[in-house]
Amino acid sequence: MRAVVYKDYGGPEVLELVERERPQPARDEVLIRVAAAGINPVDARLRSGEMKWLLPGGFPRIPGYDVAGVIEQVGSQANFQVGQRVLAFLDHVYGGGYAEYAVCTHSSVVEIPDSMTFDEAAALPLAGSTALQSLREYGHLKSGMTVLVNGASGGVGSLAVQIAVADGAVVTGVASSDHEDFVRSLGAAEFIDYRRHEFTSLKQSWDLVFDAAGKSSFKASRPVLAKDGTYVSTEPSLRGLVVSLTTLPLEKQGRVMLARSRKEDLSELVRLSVEGHLKIHVADSIPLSQASDAHAKIEKGGFCGKIVLNVSQ
Ligand SMILES: NC(=O)c1ccc[n+]([C@@H]2O[C@H](COP(=O)([O-])OP(=O)(O)OC[C@H]3O[C@@H](n4cnc5c(N)ncnc54)[C@H](OP(=O)(O)O)[C@@H]3O)[C@@H](O)[C@H]2O)c1
Repeated sequence: MRAVVYKDYGGPEVLELVERERPQPARDEVLIRVAAAGINPVDARLRSGEMKWLLPGGFPRIPGYDVAGVIEQVGSQANFQVGQRVLAFLDHVYGGGYAEYAVCTHSSVVEIPDSMTFDEAAALPLAGSTALQSLREYGHLKSGMTVLVNGASGGVGSLAVQIAVADGAVVTGVASSDHEDFVRSLGAAEFIDYRRHEFTSLKQSWDLVFDAAGKSSFKASRPVLAKDGTYVSTEPSLRGLVVSLTTLPLEKQGRVMLARSRKEDLSELVRLSVEGHLKIHVADSIPLSQASDAHAKIEKGGFCGKIVLNVSQ
């Protein structure tokens, strides 16, 4: 099969298209013929070596945690049919999504409806799970809460705004002014341009501050947290872990989340989409052979929603 690999840390140019053996599914796994693979900033951060403290060693690697495609083969303990259209949040630590075939434990795979394109489905698993888990599990989101989403136009933030709105929250979105119309179209009642205003300096408070962009610390955000408010960050760091532990007994809590691959969350994301609460915005679909260009683009930023790789091209 064709696959994108990197054999050492480096810039986007270390990604190369090679021929690899097609993986074989274990008893509890399925083999997916990948139509589209989602790209996330973590793929680029792992490739650059920035996160080698989190995931050391082990080359060559096929990056990518998000895939959408068709079931090709089913392990004896996996409850799927050949030919089913699915999405998966790959549960292997190194990913494996930028390839024509990927294996995944059946508990991290869900069926997708005909109405959902492969590009949309590939954009959903990691970013959607991050948004859902951050808001509901870490942020204890409830109807009527005021929620600020920092990074509201991005992959995680654009889904978080819509989930919070669907759950009855009043949402403030923070992004650059270029993306104000997009963020408001997702249902945000208020918009803050981070280039003009630091939300942390405003005379306003929110029940939940979700820093989807990983740009604002708990310390900086604490003054704008309402009484019993919660701050949730997507930026994994030692300092974040310390904040999570030390603020546990406090009135205002800080949490750093690490997204997990869970079937019930993937099903919930598909449900939200089918019921019209979640629109998945795919900014670009780039051929698998141009994965380095896709990484350069994700590192540059400036687009709304998600970028995916078209694997069949
Ligand atoms: N912990 C986890 O498990 C986990 C999971 C997923 C993602 N993440 C991390 O979460 C972050 C966001 O991921 P993503 O996929 O949403 O990235 P993304 O699609 O690149 O989105 C980034 C967002 O941040 C905004 N932004 C850029 N500079 C900003 C600033 N100074 N202040 C406020 N907002 C700013 C961008 O707005 P403009 O485009 O308008 O500038 C955009 O809305 C990444 O660092 C990623 O590694 C962590």
